Parts: sequence; C-alpha cells; structure tokens
Amino acid sequence: MANPSQNARVLSGMRPTGQLHLGNYHGALKNWVDLQYQYECYFFVADWHALTTGYEDTSKLEENVWEVVIDWLAAGLNPGACTIFLQSRVPEHAELHLLLSMITPLGWLERVPTYKDQQEQLREKDLATYGFLGYPLLQSADILLYRPKYIPVGEDQIAHVEITREVARRFNHLYGREPDFEAKAEKAVKNLGAKNAALYRELRRAFQEQGDATALDKARSFLEKNGRLTLADRERLLGYLEGTGRSILPEPDAMLTATPKVPGLDGRKMSKSYANTITLREDPDQVAKKLKTMQTDPARVRRTDPGDPEKCPVFDLHRMYSPPDVQQWAANGCRTAGIGCLECKKPIVDAVVAEVTTFRARAQEYVEQPELVRGIVAEGCEKARETARETMNDVREAMGLAYR
Ligand code: TRP
Ligand code: SF4
Repeated sequence: MANPSQNARVLSGMRPTGQLHLGNYHGALKNWVDLQYQYECYFFVADWHALTTGYEDTSKLEENVWEVVIDWLAAGLNPGACTIFLQSRVPEHAELHLLLSMITPLGWLERVPTYKDQQEQLREKDLATYGFLGYPLLQSADILLYRPKYIPVGEDQIAHVEITREVARRFNHLYGREPDFEAKAEKAVKNLGAKNAALYRELRRAFQEQGDATALDKARSFLEKNGRLTLADRERLLGYLEGTGRSILPEPDAMLTATPKVPGLDGRKMSKSYANTITLREDPDQVAKKLKTMQTDPARVRRTDPGDPEKCPVFDLHRMYSPPDVQQWAANGCRTAGIGCLECKKPIVDAVVAEVTTFRARAQEYVEQPELVRGIVAEGCEKARETARETMNDVREAMGLAYR
C-alpha cells in the first residue's frame, strides 16, 4: 500500500470513566477504529488522570479500567492493528512528567483554560492540588513519550496539545544542542546514500543560502518519506536542514475530526454526568425503552401539532443513523404532522439496536474471559514501554542524566 502516512504515529488516551456511551463512540472511538488501519496507533487508558480529579475514592478505578478496554474492543479496536495499554503500567510517563515539570513555568499551567473552569464546575471537590494543576503537563508527557505526529482529540483538548507543543519546544531549545551535533548530522547525511545525500545537500543549500521555502518543504517531505532513517537521525537531519538543533521531542499536531454532536435522552449533549446516556453495550430492550421517552421538539405536544426537526434532538440522531431518504421522510412527516414521534423514532431504534448488538457480540468473549483482556493489555504495555524507553534514553542523554 502506497500510503505516505503509514509510518506516522498517532496517540490518544481516554480517562477510565466506566462504561462508555454512544457519545464517546461517535465522538472519538469510532474515529480511532478508522485510524488504526491508517497509522501506527497507540491508545491508552489514562488511569492516573482519573486520580487528578478523583483521588478520594479509588474503589471503582480498576473496574472502570477494564470496562473501558472491553468497550474499545467491542467498538472494533483491533489489538493486531494498534497498541492498547495502561498509563500506570508504563512508569516512564511519570519520569518524563517529573523531568518536564522542571522546565515548565507555573504560569503556563495556570493559564490552561480547563484549570479554572473545572475547579468551578467541580466545586464539591477540592481541586487545589498539585496533581490537578499539573495534569496538562502529565498529558504532555503522555504524548511526547511516544513522539507521535498526530493527536486525535476533541475541541476541549486542543489547549492541552498546544501546551504540549510549547513544552516540547522549550525542551528542545534547552537540551537539543548535542555537543557533536554537526558530526552526527553529517554522518546521517552520508547514511542516506550518495544520491539522496546529494539531493539533501542541494536542498539544504537552497534553503539556507537563498531562503528557498519550496526547497525546505521538499527536503522535509523527502525526510518524512524515507522509511530507512531512524527517528533520531530524521530529527537531526530536520534540525540540520533548518539550522536549529535536533529536536528530541518533536511537536505533535492535534487532529480534529468532524464528529457529530450526539444528543442525550434529555436533549442535552450525551454525557455520563447528565445521566442521559445509552451505553455501548446497552440491552436492546433498554435501548427501545430509553428512546421511546427521549425528548422531542417541545412544541409538538399533541400528535396533530406539526413539529420542527431543527428543534428536535431525535432528528440529530436521524442525521447520524438514517440514510437521506429516511431523513426526508422524518422531516416531512414532522413538519406536516404526518407521522407521530414514536413512528419517527422507529428507524433510530432499529439502527441503535443493530449497533449495540454488534458491540455486545464482540464484547461477549472478553466479558467471559477476562484473562484475554489482561493478555491484550499486557502485550500492549510491553510494546508501549519499549517505545517509551527509547525516548527516555534520548531524554536522559540530552539532559545530562545518562550517567550510571
Ligand atoms: N485529558 C484527556 C481527556 O480528559 C485524556 C488524555 C490523557 C489524553 N492523556 C492524553 C488524550 C494524551 C490525548 C493524549 O480526555
Ligand atoms: Fe422529533 Fe420526529 Fe417528533 Fe419531529 S416527529 S418532533 S423530528 S421525534
């Protein structure tokens, strides 16, 4: 497969909130399932993050972790195609977090918008803790440890990817100047082979001497595509090209994907804290029951009142689940009072039941054999740890901590 992005790495994480719902699926997880076949994907359960807001009662933590992993598998994450692991089983996350904390100005963390927002929203909890303030930096460590190119996240996490980029930049600025950088870069150029080395040198000259931006772009994409380069050498050659040092922790980009807004049963956004959810593995009878009582256009009180699909959360579900002709049928029937709300909901009930039925079938073997899940996670943690160790070796060396 000639896919230039095949080697690019993608990383994302989720807090273990317990059973996932259709909002989590359509908002994030479904996208992960697609990405696993296009990129080298790492997906992890951010169990330490759960402690940043829920440190008092940890009695449900373990159960929630396994539920989330089973939901991921039920949704179609394939352990043969992506790496699934737990944050707390890769202690390098903690080490990198600690080291990054040394170079991170307090103001950067205080200015993260979720810091004050969440403290206000979760007033019942004492969030004046060190861990809560530092949680975006823990997230930066989660990310930078794997040197990924893209971070698929929702709108609410963009600020965290942004601070991650700033922290990486600061780290590279402080520690990215290897004493023998030029020599190492020259060696990496030679390793490209005669023809490629000549091309690289020519493009580098064009950029550095004439400021030729297309040459820079060309050289960059040439390095990205070269599958034989080690990560370290690629970073050296990129730095050498631009006249900076080597970037030890490359800056990742957020990957924002268009996701539908998934309405909950009360018409607000589907969210566990609103108790308005349909879970991924909801019982089909429950699905039907819940959807029957779902909020509709409040103006449509009697069967004979016409309604407005634009003001109805059920219609948002039609947009997600129904083909165009069914959407047409529902919208027309609603505006003309030609159909009742129960009738209108019927195709959605069918579609959601079909969806949860697939998830339940996939989940079954994992629910029955928890050791299968443990095995998948153990293997994922091992793989993740190998990658994490490589990064930490570079980080320690760059910081002058590689003595033993
Ligand atoms: N903070 C994220 C959330 O609350 C979860 C998370 C932790 C994460 N570490 C991450 C997401 C790293 C992406 C990358 O949803
Ligand atoms: Fe909503 Fe359908 Fe009822 Fe219209 S007919 S109010 S779209 S459920």
